[in-house]
Order: sequence, then C-alpha cells, then structure tokens
Amino acid sequence: MKRTVIKSTGRYVPPRVVTNHDLTQWMDTSDEWIRQRTGIEQRHWIPEEGGVGSSDLALEATKIALERTGWTAKDIDLIIFATLSPDIFFPGPGCLLQHKLGLNSTPALDIRQQCTGFLYGLATADAYIRSGLANKILLACAEVHSTGIDISTRGRDVAVLFGDGAGVVCLEGIETDKDVGILASALHANGEFAESLMIEVGASRLNPRISEELIKEGRHWPVMDGKTIFKEAVRSLPNVSQEVLQKSGLSLEDIDLFIPHQANLRINQFFQQSMKLPEEKVFHNIQRYGNTTAASIPIALDEALEMNIIGDGSAVIFLGLGAGLTWAAVLARLVG
Ligand SMILES: CC(C)(COP(=O)(O)OP(=O)(O)OC[C@H]1O[C@@H](n2cnc3c(N)ncnc32)[C@H](O)[C@@H]1OP(=O)(O)O)[C@@H](O)C(=O)NCCC(=O)NCCS
Repeated sequence: MKRTVIKSTGRYVPPRVVTNHDLTQWMDTSDEWIRQRTGIEQRHWIPEEGGVGSSDLALEATKIALERTGWTAKDIDLIIFATLSPDIFFPGPGCLLQHKLGLNSTPALDIRQQCTGFLYGLATADAYIRSGLANKILLACAEVHSTGIDISTRGRDVAVLFGDGAGVVCLEGIETDKDVGILASALHANGEFAESLMIEVGASRLNPRISEELIKEGRHWPVMDGKTIFKEAVRSLPNVSQEVLQKSGLSLEDIDLFIPHQANLRINQFFQQSMKLPEEKVFHNIQRYGNTTAASIPIALDEALEMNIIGDGSAVIFLGLGAGLTWAAVLARLVG
C-alpha cells in the first residue's frame, strides 16, 4: 500500500527577537497582559526595513530539510506552499520559492488556509502521492506577519499575537504493509465565521480596492473577534482529534504527542484538559515564536524531533483551527 511519510523537516525564523516589553514602545500593552492571556513571551520578526518575504523564509527552511533528506531541489515533483502573507499579492509564493530553488518547470501550488495551511497541505500532498500524481513533495509553510499588523494601540489585540517564521517538510510515497506515514486526516471549514478574522483591503469586492479613506479607517489591518475564535477552537479541537483517531482505528493512549497550532497557550491547555491528557503529551512553543500561522505546526514538529520528544515510530496528531474558519487534524506515524 502506498503511504505518505514525512522524510525530513526544517525551520527558520528571522534573527530579530521582539519581546513583549519591546512592544510597549509602540502600543499600550504589558508583558503581564500578553503572557497571562496568550502565553507569548517573544516572537521573531523580519528586519524593520522589510525586504524579506514568506518565500525567503521558506527557502532557508527548505535548504535544511532538503539536506536532511538527501534530496536536491530537482528531486521535488511538486511544491505546495501554505501562507496567508504572500510576498506579493499574486502570483503566489510557491512560484517564487520554486525559482529561488533554481527550478524552472516543477509545479507549484499555493493554499490559503491560514492556520490550518499545514494540515490542508499534508492532506493534499497525501492525496497527490496516493493517487500517483507525485511522489516527492515539498510542503512549505511560511509567514511574514510583522509588516501587516497595526502596532499602534488600536491593533494591539492582534499585533501582540503574531510572529514571522517558516517550517517545511519533505514528503515521500513509499510502498509498505506497515501502518506508517499519514494514517488519517479530517478537514473542515465554516465560512459563516469568515469575518471573525480577516484582512479586507485591497480586496476585489471593494472598488477601489484601496483608498486613503479605507486606510484611514484601518481596513487594511487584520481584524479579529478573539472571543469567537477562542470558543470555536476549544469546541472543535477535541472533536476533530477524536475524528482522526476513529478513522485510523488508534486510541488516545496510542498517541505519543499532540502538536497543536500555536495560537494561544490557553487554547491548547483547554484542549489538553478536555482530552484528559497529561501535560507532556501536548507540545507548546508559542512562548518563543508567537503565532506563526501556517508555519506554527511544522516549526513545532521540527523542534519536537530535535528535542527527541518524538522519533521513529511515534504516533503524532497535528491539529488546529484558524481563519476561515477552518479546522483540521492529521494523524501520522513517523518513520526514521
Ligand atoms: C486575543 C485574546 C488573547 C484576547 O483575550 P480576551 O480575554 O478575549 O481579551 P478581550 O478582547 O476581552 O480584551 C480584554 C481587555 O484587554 C484589552 N486588550 C486587548 N489587547 C490588549 C493588549 N495587547 N494589551 C493590553 N490590553 C489589551 C482590551 O481592550 C480589553 O479592554 P477593556 O476590558 O477595557 O475593553 C483572545 O481572545 C484569544 O487569544 N482569542 C483567540 C485568538 C486566536 O487564536 N487567533 C488566531 C487564530 S489562528
């Protein structure tokens, strides 16, 4: 049977560290408020002068993952790029990354699932691989949020949450009788909540798409109904985890580690408690990176592997909820 396995991982965050205390020079906030509500202590942002896009961060993470796999860029059959913060409005960063890797005809597609981009990306790659359309896939997830948030007091509820970074995985199809690789996935969306977390300007439904008035109103910044997102996350994440357990035939006790999207430490602690899991079974690193959206789960996976919390044979559930709303989970058994 054809199975999609995670061959290698890579992560990259820009070197500039922005602490909660640093944020107080631009907005009325405090280290205490941010830590208590979110768990975040610091995040990485690209240089203030800009000039770095999501594909640049993804390139650095990709170099690491390719080296670990022993692939060259030419071995890749398909690039899937997940981001909500593309370098330019279009074309998407999949094509930009492809070019930066020295390729000139490898297909590249972009998915826009925000915080569940990695999960939708894994499920898409798995479908490509199992159907025989591709066998070696680079799934790149990267975000540059720091240039797209309102760092004045008006935008503080959103601005304190987000960090820049990239996480990638190399995926390969193998023929095996063993239950390894991606064993189950569950994807969901509910567009009813589309405006609970969004950036509106410059969108096609506005004419003109951008104007001084729209900018004055701040409609080019992200807006978020944090309480709704929080409530939906706490409600959906246990259900979607049970769904992949059921699909795979595994039980809760079989899972070595849950790697949730890193949106808020409190959301993930609620998840751990409602699933009655011991603390060490749920991975957190939001303290150091903030919310890096599509990149957060692959960055966390890369760290968990580096810390030897998981390895060959470990069963892992990746899960998350974010803008869309979209929520999803993927259950995979790692191979060495
Ligand atoms: C954003 C979030 C931390 C806010 O926490 P909350 O408990 O809902 O806080 P509220 O929005 O009710 O704000 C409480 C107060 O803090 C203030 N506040 C908001 N952001 C602040 C900040 N960065 N620093 C200081 N005060 C802040 C508010 O203005 C409000 O003040 P008021 O009571 O005088 O009106 C929380 O809702 C959350 O994490 N939601 C999920 C968001 C998420 O996961 N988003 C990403 C999806 S991928």
